[in-house]
Amino acid sequence: MDYRAIATLASLTHASCMRYPDASGHLIRTSIIASCLAGIMGLDAAEQQCIRLATPVHDLGKLAIPDRVLLKPAKLDPEERRIMERHSRIGAELLAGSIHELHQYASVIARHHHERFDGSGYPDHLVGQNVPLPARVVAVADAFDAMTEARCYRPSMTDDEAKAVILEGSGTHFDPVAAQAFLGGFPSILRARRAANELLSLGSDATVVARLYGLTRRDFAEGWLTTG
Ligand SMILES: [Fe+2]
Ligand SMILES: [Fe+2]
Repeated sequence: MDYRAIATLASLTHASCMRYPDASGHLIRTSIIASCLAGIMGLDAAEQQCIRLATPVHDLGKLAIPDRVLLKPAKLDPEERRIMERHSRIGAELLAGSIHELHQYASVIARHHHERFDGSGYPDHLVGQNVPLPARVVAVADAFDAMTEARCYRPSMTDDEAKAVILEGSGTHFDPVAAQAFLGGFPSILRARRAANELLSLGSDATVVARLYGLTRRDFAEGWLTTG
């Protein structure tokens, strides 16, 4: 895989990690859980690797969401929700101009990770298999991580509560194949989450992101950005 494409994704992930408190936790866990889920679903190693590399930028568009919405310490009202929902399109557009296939792949995930299997998601209201497969995989991992993370306006759900939501949403919100694989392979999902949390405990966002992308801290700092 092209080193420059990977290093650029690492920089964009680092930027996403700096956008709001604890973003890195969500982005890194969702990446590792999604690639684990891809493995449970039988996707090949190359696809698992693409999902792992591309998923951390799924919320890249949040860079462009104003603080009053992104950082609001309460539930969003309908107008704020509409603004927040722009992040999928914005993230996709930021990535789509690249010549690298990996960035095109990441753009598709960014655009479609909030589509729902029954067509009630956004931004394109795609239905069923029309939602690109990597986005269907990431949708499950993303929702699970979001539900099991506390928000200032609600406590975190337990794993069992989040699994019940995924079961309930199988075939409506979520691709039933992805949802059933997630639930059936839950011990592996928990191992993936543990591995992600261990990675996150290694140190700064720059260290964690460099490790996720297989870059040395030196490559990362000298090649693409100054990490301070
Ligand atoms: Fe999102
Ligand atoms: Fe997300």
